[in-house]
Amino acid sequence: MDSSTIAALNERHAGASAEEILRAGLGLDPDRTILACSLGIEDTVLLHMLVQETAKMGKKARGFVLDTGRLPEESYGVLEDCRQKYGGVLEVFFPDARGVEILLREKGPYSFYESIENRKECCRIRKVEPLKRALSGQSAWITGLRKEQAATRAETSLFELDETHGGILKINPLANWTEQMVYDYALAHNVPVNALHRKSYPSIGCEPCTRAVQPGEDLRAGRWWWENAAQK
Ligand code: ADX
Ligand code: SF4
Repeated sequence: MDSSTIAALNERHAGASAEEILRAGLGLDPDRTILACSLGIEDTVLLHMLVQETAKMGKKARGFVLDTGRLPEESYGVLEDCRQKYGGVLEVFFPDARGVEILLREKGPYSFYESIENRKECCRIRKVEPLKRALSGQSAWITGLRKEQAATRAETSLFELDETHGGILKINPLANWTEQMVYDYALAHNVPVNALHRKSYPSIGCEPCTRAVQPGEDLRAGRWWWENAAQK
């Protein structure tokens, strides 16, 4: 994928619906396009949409979850709800066992609270490396990123070039959606919703690195709350 094709896709879909964006992305290479599902509400909404759109094309929906080994119980709950509702669409990727064993032996189970380097090391072992495996052989991935989620996401485009993963396409169909639109869609379509969202968790990651937010706080204030926003 090259940057001029991506610029053209963004221009053509500037006012398009999330379904149209998803269809346009899927149309390029449906068998090698995959949803990254964190089991938060944006991603279960996208999973629902993906199942509908791929069925219309006579294709199979494809998605993956990075099970870091530290996910909250509620995320496994919604993984099971998705399995019941959509079948075995979500493949699960787990970190390399030896990498986790060495990390735990050398630094213990809470090393991420001690320094940013340690936090990044844990994320590298539990998320970044499995993500690389999940994306190998794919030509595009779909994420639930939204501009509104954080200052660092304000520039999120509908279609992006993912240089980190070999120049594949990254599709963010909900980039322009508000939180209200996400919840309205989930309610209207009976989408499985992570129970933590009802407990003031707008953004959900690993259990020890996510907490509830206070009224008025940023949507991602509960993620790695001990670090400053730019480092997340
Ligand atoms: S992040 O900092 O953890 O990346 P966030 O939780 O807002 O941020 O997730 C952004 C997007 O990354 C999600 O919409 C999803 O597409 C992908 N993602 C995040 N965590 C996971 C996960 N555990 N498994 C699969 N995809 C994930
Ligand atoms: Fe490790 Fe926390 Fe990163 Fe999860 S979010 S991989 S527990 S540092």
